[in-house]
Amino acid sequence: MNELQSIVAAARTAFEAASASADLENAKAQFLGKSGRITELMKGMAALSVEEKKTQGASINVAKQDIEAALQDRRQALAEAQLQKQLQAQALDVSLPGRVRGQGSLHPVSLAQERIERIFASMGFDVADGPEIESDWFSFTSLNNPPNHPARSMQDTFYIDTKGADGVYYNLRPHTSPMQIRYAQAHVRKHGGDFDVAAGRLFSGDMPEIRVIAPGRTFRVDSDATHSPMFHQVEGLWVGEDISFKDLKSVYLSFITSFFETDALQLRFRPSYFPFTEPSAEIDIMFETGPLQGKWLEVSGSGQVHPQVIRNMGLDPERYIGFAFGSGIDRLAMLRYSVNDLRIFFEGDVRFLSQFA
Ligand code: DAH
Repeated sequence: MNELQSIVAAARTAFEAASASADLENAKAQFLGKSGRITELMKGMAALSVEEKKTQGASINVAKQDIEAALQDRRQALAEAQLQKQLQAQALDVSLPGRVRGQGSLHPVSLAQERIERIFASMGFDVADGPEIESDWFSFTSLNNPPNHPARSMQDTFYIDTKGADGVYYNLRPHTSPMQIRYAQAHVRKHGGDFDVAAGRLFSGDMPEIRVIAPGRTFRVDSDATHSPMFHQVEGLWVGEDISFKDLKSVYLSFITSFFETDALQLRFRPSYFPFTEPSAEIDIMFETGPLQGKWLEVSGSGQVHPQVIRNMGLDPERYIGFAFGSGIDRLAMLRYSVNDLRIFFEGDVRFLSQFA
């Protein structure tokens, strides 16, 4: 090994031995620095002949390049090692499960209600909302349910035991039927109808038909697998000049077949009694296929709006006539989603609710 080769070998060994970049730079100075061994050799060339300078110079250059290459390799290796160390210190355990945000969803009763609203809207029905704390007049009297009449006990009403500021008693509405009167009165006023129910002055002029559904919360003193103190109803009302039971049947059949996405069902009217309709009927449906096949299921009360109710809407019953219905939204949701205990809707159990996400 000549001198140059041994210098290169010594440089490599020194670089390898450097374990931090400061050590490496010191080692570099020993070989390539101003008084390093390569520089010393260069200086020593002054005494050589021109020919010798050429060959010796070339060899020194090769050695210098070898040393620089070794230096560069070592620099890279140290940088790499430094990076690895840093990566290990900041290691991420990618096998840990992430913190995911649970997928939210609408409540099944809300899903059913939205579905009902969409279907009736497609048939030209307006969707209305009204107060849940209702006066005695709207909840009962306006619906042809006179004070102290035994028909009031059909609904186990929650009463508020102090009178309102207007001096009358209020209740948590036991049904959505008050919305018939509220909506109709607003509709008549909106179309210029002047009326005064108390004075017996009624509207008998022209106005667009009343066609509305009013879904919402209702309340009764009742609680078991199919009744909850808070539940949901949807009221329907169509009043015009020649609206009859056949319209009720076609509207309700369209609705129920859309709601359950099947034509394989039958609908029947079963005579019944409600103070606000005459005649009155329960609407039953029967599925021709599926798990509930062959059973008649009650889904709604209905009837032709009683003339006294038409009057309380501010309308002349000699000119206006129509039908109304009131269906349980929770019951429709139970049938649609095969839920057999109503209470599960209102327990807030995520294991149940997440199935609708
Ligand atoms: N309001 C009734 C109830 O809660 C349901 C009902 C029956 C509504 C007949 C109506 C109707 O509009 O015509 O039981």
